[in-house]
Amino acid sequence: MDITEARPSSLSRVTITELMIPSYANFGGKIHGGILLSLMDKVAYATASKHSGAYCVTVSVDTVNFLQPVEVGELVSLMGSVNYVGNSSMIVGIKVISENVKTGTVKHTNTSYFTMVAKGEDDKPTTVPPLRLETETDIRRFVEAIYRKRFVREHADYLKEIKKNRDPDEIKRLLAKERCEVGV
Ligand SMILES: CC(C)(COP(=O)(O)OP(=O)(O)OC[C@H]1O[C@@H](n2cnc3c(N)ncnc32)[C@H](O)[C@@H]1OP(=O)(O)O)[C@@H](O)C(=O)NCCC(=O)NCCS
Repeated sequence: MDITEARPSSLSRVTITELMIPSYANFGGKIHGGILLSLMDKVAYATASKHSGAYCVTVSVDTVNFLQPVEVGELVSLMGSVNYVGNSSMIVGIKVISENVKTGTVKHTNTSYFTMVAKGEDDKPTTVPPLRLETETDIRRFVEAIYRKRFVREHADYLKEIKKNRDPDEIKRLLAKERCEVGV
């Protein structure tokens, strides 16, 4: 693959559809969150490796909120699309929907963003092709990814700062508002 030539996300889009069988259920009879996470990881890998033509690893996952439970017997579809590329990293947006085949009802269970990194034969990060933005949606997703990356960086800096400057009075004030009992 020519890594200098931009590739559109339409060339690497992947959809995985899987039937939710009883062995995927948790004690409450709903589909286990881990099953969905594993499928999301698969679709992220397939999408990122299609874009880069390389072996890829998952580096981080940005927010997984399961908005609605998934039932046994439903058909879950996971759609992966490359939203952003850096040098060796790619952000894959994944939309998960679940369909009740009897009623035809479709629900959106979550949208998450997986950062994947392409690796070369030497197991080191390797450059991936740029992303060709062909639609307004492509541009919106790319720009949103830039903002999300910036937010994650600022959030990490904020937490680092808080850890450095722990104020005992502020800690007391915070804990006083919470449902906890201090035993030290
Ligand atoms: C991710 C990994 C390849 C980074 O290796 P590294 O030698 O530190 O490489 P770099 O610092 O150059 O980072 C490579 C890219 O990853 C990105 N990256 C690294 N850590 C990241 C994080 N926590 N979140 C988002 N992106 C991250 C960097 O921004 C960089 O992106 P770019 O090339 O597009 O600019 C390495 O830490 C690794 O192999 N981790 C294990 C991944 C794995 O096994 N996943 C499966 C989970 S069991």
